[in-house]
Amino acid sequence: MSNNRRDFLKKGALLGLIGLGKGLIGEEKINAVEKISSSLNLSEKFTLPALPYGYGDLEPFIDKQTMEIHHTKHHQAYVNKLNETPSTNIDYLSPDEIKCTHVDKFTSAVIRNNLGGHYNHSLFWTMLRPNPEGYANLSEGNIAKAIVAEFKSFENFKKEFSDKSLKIFGSGWCWLIKTKEGKLKIVTTANQDNPLMQLDYERGTPLLALDVWEHAYYLKYQNKRVEYIENWWSLINWNKVEELYTK
Ligand SMILES: [Fe+2]
Repeated sequence: MSNNRRDFLKKGALLGLIGLGKGLIGEEKINAVEKISSSLNLSEKFTLPALPYGYGDLEPFIDKQTMEIHHTKHHQAYVNKLNETPSTNIDYLSPDEIKCTHVDKFTSAVIRNNLGGHYNHSLFWTMLRPNPEGYANLSEGNIAKAIVAEFKSFENFKKEFSDKSLKIFGSGWCWLIKTKEGKLKIVTTANQDNPLMQLDYERGTPLLALDVWEHAYYLKYQNKRVEYIENWWSLINWNKVEELYTK
């Protein structure tokens, strides 16, 4: 079934269910459908999410040009490739909930790479926040207590996370995850894989993500990944991490 046809049926079914189609004609009906579908985000297309800050707002730690290229070129490319993929290959996915949990070793490379790329970056942007003043330590909250309980101290956690990020060979991501048992773990994944996928990684819910692809830092830091990682700690949006942990 084509995307347009499926979209049409979904919207029609929705109108029928909630009875809003009754008594509306012509443009009123179209407006009602568009209003409902947009409020429920029923678009059949994957879309690039807007950043919650400006491209230059993460200066001096991540430069404006890197952010702009990373978002409008790299992330946009993952979105475009997903939308170009024949719908028969992604019928089991809902663009509104990026279901990486469906990805396994049998999934085609184009979906695995681009779905991961879209999900990982969408999450990564929300885990950053401007902080021109510089380094800020872990804020208070449940995640702070859980990190100290698991890693003995925030400094231990920071060191282990930084060391693992530094050691990723080539392109990949470093994650803090909450496992099914509720434990916190630091894991790394290659390319655009993530810990939600049914692959050979420790699985769990991502709470914190660091992109260590060169495209995330090379313009400013060149080969000095260690400096990029150290400065990234200044930009973590701990409110978002807390929200994901307590969800
Ligand atoms: Fe990236």
